[in-house]
Amino acid sequence: MKKNQFYITTPIYYVNANPHIGHAYTQIAVDVLSRYHKMLGEEVFFLTGTDEHGEKIEEATLKSGLGQGREKEFVDKIVPNFKKVWDILGIEYDYFIRTTDSVHKETVQEFLNKMKENGDIYQGEYDGWFCVPCETFWTDGQAKDGICPECSRKLQRIKEKNYFFKMSKYQDWLIDYIKANQTFIMPKNRRNEVLGFLKEELTDLCISRPKNRMSWGVELPFDKDYVVYVWFDALINYASGLRACHAFDKYWPADFHIIAKDILRHHAVYWPIMLKSLSMELPKTIFAHGWWKMGDEKISKSKGNIIDPVFLAEKYGVDALRYFLLKAVSFGQDGVYTEDAFIHLYNSDLANDLGNLLNRTLTMLEKYLESPVSPDRKCLVQEAVAQSSKIRTALCALFPRVKERMENPNLFLKEALEEIMSVVGIANKYIEETAPWKYNKANNKKAVDLIISDLLEVLRSVAIALFPFMPHASQKIWDQLGLRGEVRGEEISIEKNADNWRRFPAGTKIAKKDPLFPRVQ
Ligand code: MSP
Repeated sequence: MKKNQFYITTPIYYVNANPHIGHAYTQIAVDVLSRYHKMLGEEVFFLTGTDEHGEKIEEATLKSGLGQGREKEFVDKIVPNFKKVWDILGIEYDYFIRTTDSVHKETVQEFLNKMKENGDIYQGEYDGWFCVPCETFWTDGQAKDGICPECSRKLQRIKEKNYFFKMSKYQDWLIDYIKANQTFIMPKNRRNEVLGFLKEELTDLCISRPKNRMSWGVELPFDKDYVVYVWFDALINYASGLRACHAFDKYWPADFHIIAKDILRHHAVYWPIMLKSLSMELPKTIFAHGWWKMGDEKISKSKGNIIDPVFLAEKYGVDALRYFLLKAVSFGQDGVYTEDAFIHLYNSDLANDLGNLLNRTLTMLEKYLESPVSPDRKCLVQEAVAQSSKIRTALCALFPRVKERMENPNLFLKEALEEIMSVVGIANKYIEETAPWKYNKANNKKAVDLIISDLLEVLRSVAIALFPFMPHASQKIWDQLGLRGEVRGEEISIEKNADNWRRFPAGTKIAKKDPLFPRVQ
């Protein structure tokens, strides 16, 4: 039984093109959760990777000019681009699994053999539809007029001898399981969607492609004329990725599989049934987030409306991009992307609120106090003391509130950011209301000291709470405050930070720099 471990995954992405903002979104959300759980002192394993088999990749290889049979060369060229983009976006994954890795292929074959031994795989004839861009099989009932119900593209009609996985056998079990485990599929509307889908009789899943039609895949261990259907191969990455690191026993099962809503059925129906057939433990939560759209359309390569995350990171900063993607919409819902919305949020939250708070605080500290923070924080001005106690209350509530949102099965990431920014707002108001420049004019240094010390406390805690979201900016705040070491080493632990107050070391030397988030015109 695992105790202090946290295992979280992203989907593995098709390598038919370079990553776009939609892929970056999932990566960033998982990175935030992973960094957050590390700060709680948990042992975290964050798995990501690439899905390299199937017809889509075979087609892309041909289109690239490389001939048939040269798929591996093609994917080897694309994979480094994914890794590069993840590095630029500050994605600290623990392992990158590729489905062409031998450990993965061996795991797929081992699992398929087991399912066959259990009597869950049989041969039959597949007569139905197939969508190459979605790599998904559809029945006559699902595919009206030969159009893909997911992406609205034309489907292929397929009639071929194939292998099948007995999904129907497990339908009742799965329905009961989902009903008994309220947070197995999140958010709730996605859970209802799956239960709705399960009202229809489940057909057995076609899990192979004959090599003479499509040969780019993992060979079926019990029939050399076939390769494994790409989704059946891909889902197993969640196990092979851990195996590659000899970490399976320590981390299995996953705490979260984070995906987007378009691949919910594969994760919330196929995958649990595969695990059940293998007598393996199920993931605790499958969380399907929404889509980033342009207008009404999902952002995707095939629609030709992609936004390059590297372009945005270079123009506005990586942390601004991370902040925007998670603050602009509640995790789980769709978002409509426009650069104007990006700039608006950047200016209001980052340049005005957070950037200004840091800047004003450090400027006043430099101007009004001889030594940075005096250890004597006693202040005789009643008015200032009363205001101070208000900010203290808000600040002491910050970590518990952030915790409540981050650890909620709804993954309230936007709402956690709102809590943090609300304290920033309170601190800015505190400056307006107390007007430390007046106390300074009246030469009441104790009152000035009290107010500035409070602001430093706020900035210290805000930097800690923001670290998972904006690791670079939060470290910069930390450094400018003159605090030692790395923010990542701090713990968002209620036990250790019960009273999140008066933790700013006195006498700290500040290191004011240029504004963190210069206003964008
Ligand atoms: N290879 C499969 C997944 C196999 S997982 C065992 C696949 N790959 S994909 O390249 O199409 O990536 C899909 C994932 O990319 C989505 O689940 C989501 O995480 C992310 N997104 C792609 N486009 C997106 C948006 N426009 N908006 C939000 N997320 C998007 O499916």
